[in-house]
Amino acid sequence: MSAVVADRFGGGVALVTGAGAGLGEAMVEHLAAHGVHVVVTDVDRERATAVASACVAAGGSAEAHHLDVADGDQVDALFAALWARHGDVDLVVSNAGIESGDRVCDMTPAQWRKVMAVNTDGAFHCARSAVPRMADQERPGVLAIVASTGAVTSLPYQSAYVASKHAALALAQCLDLELKAAETPVQVSALLPNWVRTRIFDDVRRAGEPVHADARATFERMAESIQEQGMAPERAAALLLGAVARGEFWCFTDPERTAQLFEERARTLLDLRLPARPGWLTA
Ligand SMILES: NC(=O)c1ccc[n+]([C@@H]2O[C@H](COP(=O)([O-])OP(=O)(O)OC[C@H]3O[C@@H](n4cnc5c(N)ncnc54)[C@H](O)[C@@H]3O)[C@@H](O)[C@H]2O)c1
Repeated sequence: MSAVVADRFGGGVALVTGAGAGLGEAMVEHLAAHGVHVVVTDVDRERATAVASACVAAGGSAEAHHLDVADGDQVDALFAALWARHGDVDLVVSNAGIESGDRVCDMTPAQWRKVMAVNTDGAFHCARSAVPRMADQERPGVLAIVASTGAVTSLPYQSAYVASKHAALALAQCLDLELKAAETPVQVSALLPNWVRTRIFDDVRRAGEPVHADARATFERMAESIQEQGMAPERAAALLLGAVARGEFWCFTDPERTAQLFEERARTLLDLRLPARPGWLTA
């Protein structure tokens, strides 16, 4: 059990987007196990309902809602209703995210836009709707934006995902600066998970992507590797939520690997290096 999560958020209310599977589901379970009432939201209503029901069956407190984070009006309507019902919402985790896996020029504009709409616009919609409400409540709230270690890397065949995560991290950093400038007591945290064993690659494959053979081979290898080497989502959730509860801006699942990636990014920029081809690429 994590005393810091219970101390900070126990007895309060937290909302998690994309909480019907993977990391979001694990965060819901972790929060509920630490005495938090969790609002479980997902674009897949059945998944959200199943996760909330499992929490309640395990003795926790949860409610489920359909929410497509790409739709700003839906986000605003649900947040308005939740604040009206609960008074304060202590934590919003903007977690919903989707993968992409193709060469830039093989993607349709609709494929590109969908990834941006969920991964980047979704975080913006949550920030825009939650932060002013959190600023007005008695106990200042926390907005946690799930980016990725992809937010500091460049990878072939994953341009939309990587670009969307660079943007989500930049959004978190700019927002934090603005809130500090205005002395608004809302905490912003940027979550950079590294490699977590979830089903994130499955939806992309179901949609028939990627189309190019090199991209497909790389993607298959990543999908296998995440199952073989990814961290258990429960462990990732505990690490990330512990850091959020401690008031940290930077929250990691694998600090050592993330530090290496930060170093590579810094070296690339400082030495004006060309992006390096990752060693694990199959093609
Ligand atoms: N798994 C990893 O290794 C990893 C690494 C870095 C970052 N992340 C990030 O963690 C977050 C969660 O990913 P995951 O691995 O648990 O994925 P996942 O596919 O297991 O779960 C994502 C959930 O988001 C939901 N979702 C998809 N589109 C949505 C939308 N428009 N609105 C609301 N919900 C939507 C899906 O239905 C699903 O339940 C994502 O932002 C992802 O980019 C994951």
